[in-house]
Amino acid sequence: MMFHRRKKEPDTLPLSNSPQQSHTPNSPMPSSFFRFRTSTLTASFTSFILLLSLLLNFYFLVILWAPYSTDLTPSAVVSRLSPTTRRHVLFSVASSSLSWQHRQSYVHLWYSAKSTRALAFLDTPPGNSSPLSPPVVISGDASGFPYTLQGGLRSAIRVARVVKEAVDRNETDVRWFVFGDDDTVFFVENVVKTLSKYDHDRWFYIGSNSESYDQNTMYSFEMAFGGGGFAISHSLAKVLARVLDSCLRRYGFLYGSDARIYSCVAELGVTLTHEPGFHQLDMRGNLFGVLAAHPLSPLCSLHHLDAAEPIFPNMNRTQALGHLIAATNVDPARILQQTVCYDRSISLTFSVSWGFAIQVYQGNVLLPDLLAVKKTFAPWRKIHYNFMLDTKDYPRDPCKRPSIFFLKSVASDKRGVWSNYTRHVEKKCPKLNPNLPDKIIVYSRKLDRSIEEMKAPRRQCCNVLPSLNETISIRIRQCGNNELISMESYKMSLSLCPLCDGKR
Ligand SMILES: *[C@@H]1O[C@H](CO)[C@@H](O)[C@H](O)[C@H]1NC(C)=O
Ligand SMILES: *[C@@H]1O[C@H](CO)[C@@H](O)[C@H](O)[C@H]1NC(C)=O
Ligand SMILES: *[C@@H]1O[C@H](CO)[C@@H](O)[C@H](O)[C@H]1NC(C)=O
Ligand SMILES: *[C@@H]1O[C@H](CO)[C@@H](O)[C@H](O)[C@H]1NC(C)=O
Repeated sequence: MMFHRRKKEPDTLPLSNSPQQSHTPNSPMPSSFFRFRTSTLTASFTSFILLLSLLLNFYFLVILWAPYSTDLTPSAVVSRLSPTTRRHVLFSVASSSLSWQHRQSYVHLWYSAKSTRALAFLDTPPGNSSPLSPPVVISGDASGFPYTLQGGLRSAIRVARVVKEAVDRNETDVRWFVFGDDDTVFFVENVVKTLSKYDHDRWFYIGSNSESYDQNTMYSFEMAFGGGGFAISHSLAKVLARVLDSCLRRYGFLYGSDARIYSCVAELGVTLTHEPGFHQLDMRGNLFGVLAAHPLSPLCSLHHLDAAEPIFPNMNRTQALGHLIAATNVDPARILQQTVCYDRSISLTFSVSWGFAIQVYQGNVLLPDLLAVKKTFAPWRKIHYNFMLDTKDYPRDPCKRPSIFFLKSVASDKRGVWSNYTRHVEKKCPKLNPNLPDKIIVYSRKLDRSIEEMKAPRRQCCNVLPSLNETISIRIRQCGNNELISMESYKMSLSLCPLCDGKR
């Protein structure tokens, strides 16, 4: 955790900032002015003047708008209009030769030389760097900067300067600089999609604070916690790189690199744009609760995974993450997205966290109770027990918990995506609900939200299909216009339209 400590707040999308607006009151010459002077003249002259005033109006209109068209050189038009893709995003990983040895395996999960632009910034040349790793850059000397916090790590300065060092390389065509630790696992496709909502030619600092309330009070609610990863638009990054060193000298007393970057971005007058898909994960142990109730924003990163148990049973950490990423590769936007449906006939509630797990509850559980995060995890520090999340206690008695089905496999073809989930049997609670089979198959279409839809996302709906054999099948679809996600609405939607895509 070179970069340091993440969270969640309502998504504010400061996007629609069109430069033209301030100039629109291009009030044309008041035509009454002409009429006053011409009142004594002949009717034909009056109409001549009226025509003239019309032409003048038109002339002023053109003059007033012209600066915008000259402003938009052809390349600027292209850069604004062409979609942001993977090649426009440069990832910088902060590491050290000591931690690089074992943390490279996390980077390999999301990085490939073919499709991702990334650099790893180390303090000294590493003993061995895998050919599967991003190119290694040795950071510049930062010993001249003050670091006065007792018990802190002065490597924080070197890591903060990664922002400058990444920018100063003048890599071509970078719209966004993304920064993370060597134990940050990025979901690259979703990072790119998320950033493409924003105009890279404007100044943006995008990320998330910690899910720990206490960490945020210690640092700032408006700081992008570095381990969750954060993004800086190229226009802001250029300026930040120029002023960073002079700014860093004022902040020797701070702990981490992210607090330094936050302070210098704040000095430039810029605040954090919160994107809740970046996860600092200041928590330990069993992450099930957090992963099963992800916000509607796409999953962008996970961090602190060394402190977490493997996220799937019977796998080691990297294997388990690889399993999640394999599902992500089939339908990136849908990974962890939570969809809820009900089977009223047998009174069951199904909460599908796509690509990860399905929870099946006996009876009718209302949606808000399912959207809350189950407290399956422990706080990062024992004293930090307040979270920036709606939490619900997770029953200690495994027999009181919902039945859980974990992702087994995912396959897709032209018709759609099938994901298989198999039942997880808690050793301490071998009694199984006889109503439930061992397997659930979920059918969905690739989730492809446009930028406009991402700005106003709506949760999808699902149906539990009548089961023909030992398997339960669930179909995820768009919700109907007036459709409510509740057990009562379920029966109605099924009877009206058992297999439709919700386009009623
Ligand atoms: C990047 O560009 C700046 C300004 O053009 C130049 O001073 C600097 O040397 C360049 N850096 C590299 C690594 O080429
Ligand atoms: C995890 O499992 C994989 C596949 O079985 C194996 O290659 C890897 O070495 C294991 N990692 C650790 C840390 O045990
Ligand atoms: C689901 O799992 C079964 C075996 O458990 C397998 O035969 C089937 O191909 C899987 N389907 C998908 C879509 O992965
Ligand atoms: C059960 O039904 C599903 C679809 O209804 C089918 O894909 C699956 O192969 C069937 N399984 C068995 C064991 O017959």
